[in-house]
Amino acid sequence: MKSALITGITGQDGAYLAKLLLSENYKVYGLYRRISTPNFWRLQSLDIYDKINLISGDLNDMSSIINAINASNPDEIYHLAAQSFVEASFESPLATAEVTGLSTTRILEAVKLMKLDSKVYYAGTSEMYGSSYLNKSLNESDVFQPMSPYAAAKLYGYWISRIYRDGYNIFVSSGILFNHESEIRGMEFVTRKIANQVAKISLGLENKIYLGNIEAKRDWGYAPEYVEAMHKMLEYNKPDDFVIATDETHTVKEFLEYAFDYINDDYNKYLEIDKRFVRPLDVPALKGDYSKAKEELNWSPKTRFKDIVKIMVGEEIKRWKKYLNGDQFPWDVPNYPNENNLLKTYRGHVK
Ligand code: NAP
Ligand code: GDD
Repeated sequence: MKSALITGITGQDGAYLAKLLLSENYKVYGLYRRISTPNFWRLQSLDIYDKINLISGDLNDMSSIINAINASNPDEIYHLAAQSFVEASFESPLATAEVTGLSTTRILEAVKLMKLDSKVYYAGTSEMYGSSYLNKSLNESDVFQPMSPYAAAKLYGYWISRIYRDGYNIFVSSGILFNHESEIRGMEFVTRKIANQVAKISLGLENKIYLGNIEAKRDWGYAPEYVEAMHKMLEYNKPDDFVIATDETHTVKEFLEYAFDYINDDYNKYLEIDKRFVRPLDVPALKGDYSKAKEELNWSPKTRFKDIVKIMVGEEIKRWKKYLNGDQFPWDVPNYPNENNLLKTYRGHVK
């Protein structure tokens, strides 16, 4: 039985990837950070919470990383944890640099110093491309020009991964993933924010939607398909970098239009442009050329923009209807790690 360690197990991608690896009979370990209100709602909503071996630790802490690696003895490490919200990186640039950038070196150093054969996946991002590519479909050879502290931190992680690959022969692959969304996307990201507000408007619970730059264009794909690409990268015969995208780009305004189409309404009645959501710098447009992944990994996106909008708004309406009928949201129910799936790694007790 192969084992995999996922950092960022409580996030969108961590949850979908865990589900995928469990379906392939992996033993899955997940690093989570202890917070005062546990947030395992994604693992619960995918019905995999009881199947994950949870390890408590913080990525800013080298001991946590060594501990997690010791406890899981992983064939594969998927390093997904990050401060992943671009807007927040302008507010907390140094904290973002620590966790989103430097923690990659901590993981790679651990693999190097512990002389492990573990393969490593690094969660790179299309944000690294930054500016000046208005109409180009971006590929692995295009130049990076980051426009946020988040993107700069991610670019550091990307280059340090290449250095450990070339310099120390560590199998580390970077996915350059373009935006990917789902029903379990974080609420602060624009797609989920819109889907949620549209659902509430349709049920009479809300009458405004506040947004920032609605002219920005993004290449939006469906998250469950993107975690498949991560796994394929580590199954491939050599470590490399791959763009994962749909090769389509749409404005935030289009997302808004299609979301309101779903409820047969017009966004102009509800939209307020709000400066609080306008960033000091914002990547104007992103579109990715995934042909290398298609040729070498046999990976292609299936779910396209309009369907993603439908899936997300549809799910949000279902959730709010349930709530109005007296059901709780899954994230209203704190679920502390229980003795069955919490590895005893506290105070140096490993395994
Ligand atoms: P996400 O939902 O925001 O999840 C981020 C995860 O990182 C969460 O589990 C979070 O834990 C964890 N984390 C943050 N700081 C940590 C710390 N100090 N110690 C331990 N864990 C910490 O992000 P996602 O959408 O799943 O994305 C996964 C990765 O892919 C991220 O690195 C992101 O930057 C990158 N990426 C995402 C996209 C996208 O469109 N989704 C595109 C390109 C790249 P908590 O739950 O405790 O906060
Ligand atoms: N979040 C948010 N909220 N974004 C808004 C809003 C708003 O109210 N109004 C307009 N936008 C615009 C942002 O300015 C940006 O241009 C676009 O919507 C998408 O914003 P996000 O959904 O926050 O995603 P992102 O593109 O900044 O970053 C996501 O994708 C990256 C890959 O390109 C994140 O998942 C990153 O972690 C990921 O690396």
